[in-house]
Amino acid sequence: MLKPVDVLNSARSERYAIGSFNFSTAEILRAIVKAARERKAPIIVSTSEGEGNFIGFREAAALTNAWRAATKLPIILNLDHGKSSEIIKKAIAAGYDAIHFDGSSLPYEKNLAETKKIVEYVRNIEKTFDRQILVEGELGYLRGSSNLHKEALEIKPEDLTSPDQANEFADKTGIDSLAVAIGNAHGVFAKGGEKLDLERLREIRSKLEGKIFLVLHGGSGISENDIKEAIRRGVVKINVNTEIRVAYKEAIEEEIKEKPEETTPYKILEPAAEAVRKVVSEKIKLFGSENKVL
Ligand code: 13P
Repeated sequence: MLKPVDVLNSARSERYAIGSFNFSTAEILRAIVKAARERKAPIIVSTSEGEGNFIGFREAAALTNAWRAATKLPIILNLDHGKSSEIIKKAIAAGYDAIHFDGSSLPYEKNLAETKKIVEYVRNIEKTFDRQILVEGELGYLRGSSNLHKEALEIKPEDLTSPDQANEFADKTGIDSLAVAIGNAHGVFAKGGEKLDLERLREIRSKLEGKIFLVLHGGSGISENDIKEAIRRGVVKINVNTEIRVAYKEAIEEEIKEKPEETTPYKILEPAAEAVRKVVSEKIKLFGSENKVL
């Protein structure tokens, strides 16, 4: 079984991206894994704090272990947007392979100091327990939430990640990966979609000189061309949540409307799982991670 860092290193050297797909129920995880298995793709499966609390952190880890054993796929379990050291510690204790500490709402210096503390904590755990845990930091202001938004997206120049700060942040914190704000946002925006600032991404990458892995959050609702160009310019992890949530919810709605008498949960949920599988399968293809299981 490859280590998480090897999975991202292969993606970086071969210029593809690993999809990070959010889940909060067992059947969503099963559907994500099914798509990865069909595409022979390494994947990251993620829970936010809310998603992790719903399914249970230890339960998420146990299910991921079960799928790893069943499929032999590289499946990395990641905490998405951990905002406190308590939640980071909880995920690590449960057995997560990767954590994202999101201090992006803090002033820069505070974000740097807090992220550095998290990295030190994780490196200590790695040494003591002979584990390998990826640490992702975040710089810049990412708007939205993983929902459908009626309003248009408005991104201000000051929201974007500064290449110089990114470089200093990477050096001083010792993170493995960095989530950047380059015109991306969480969710899908009905009026006016996300448009990536690919020149900003190029500048960030040239400053960082391959020191860390670049991560693109808000993968839903970004055009295929922008995604492909972002991967060409060094993004190796792309997070997707909203498109999964929408596909799941719409399939359940449809099923209940069509068969109002049905009460068997697995019959109601099967089309929803299939809808999730389709979304994930298409993203894996777009990200170029198909047939990348070594
Ligand atoms: P979307 O909901 O826009 O796909 O973003 C997901 C994400 O970035 C999770 O961290």
